[in-house]
Amino acid sequence: MKKYTLGNSKEEILLMFPQKSIKKVLVGEKKIAVVRIGLEIYSFQSNCPHRGASLINGIINVSQEIICPLHEYRFDMKSGNVIVGSCQDLEIYPNNLTDTGLEIIMP
Ligand code: FES
Repeated sequence: MKKYTLGNSKEEILLMFPQKSIKKVLVGEKKIAVVRIGLEIYSFQSNCPHRGASLINGIINVSQEIICPLHEYRFDMKSGNVIVGSCQDLEIYPNNLTDTGLEIIMP
């Protein structure tokens, strides 16, 4: 496992990730998706585990699930669990928002 830090402050992270937008971020050598809802940050694989569609073009619902744009499978952004659909769970990456930025733990 390796820890990466994005930004230099909490304020910078809040500006970097506008509320409920899905951003693609390069962490180490991997492109991941990052979503912020309030002070909660979700980080997970950027491509759908079903057939690989880009989740950057997905939709976030009120249950804090990401809906894939291709076949509309739904995934819990916190646990990565498949809510609707039949495929592997979403790979998620633990993170921690601190006063010095956003720490993301990659496998
Ligand atoms: S590619 Fe995402 S649900 Fe099929």
